[in-house]
Amino acid sequence: ADGDAEKGEKVFKKCRACHEIGEGAKNKVGPELNGVIGRTAGTGADFKYSDAMVEAGAGGLVWNDDTLEEYLSKPRDFIPKNKMAFAGLKKEDEIEDVIAYLEQYSQ
Ligand code: HEM
Repeated sequence: ADGDAEKGEKVFKKCRACHEIGEGAKNKVGPELNGVIGRTAGTGADFKYSDAMVEAGAGGLVWNDDTLEEYLSKPRDFIPKNKMAFAGLKKEDEIEDVIAYLEQYSQ
């Protein structure tokens, strides 16, 4: 990825209302995001996902740079009826930066 993880930490403030990440992160409104990159969609432990998200994962959706870029730019278009109440990030560099930030917790 080409993003800047430090800038991504600031972008992640938009996600913190619903997501935790890092040591001790717990599921909140959204699933905790440790290890999300490389994971099949809808398979985080002990989180009640929408049927749409579970089906996307069952259909083979894995989170990587490309799939996250699509999901975070237009969540509702990429996975209709998923329950993330977030309009999406508009700027390409914000998306790349936040993905770089997520990567730090996905080794
Ligand atoms: C799901 C990232 C903002 C609520 C997800 C997933 C990712 C993600 C990667 C899929 C996780 C998985 O399959 O295990 C982000 C990022 C955000 C953001 C990077 C900020 C840029 C938000 C906000 C909310 C939210 C603001 C609440 C208003 C949720 C919920 C799900 C989810 C409820 C589960 C969706 C479902 O089961 O259909 N998010 N999110 N997210 N997120 Fe977010």
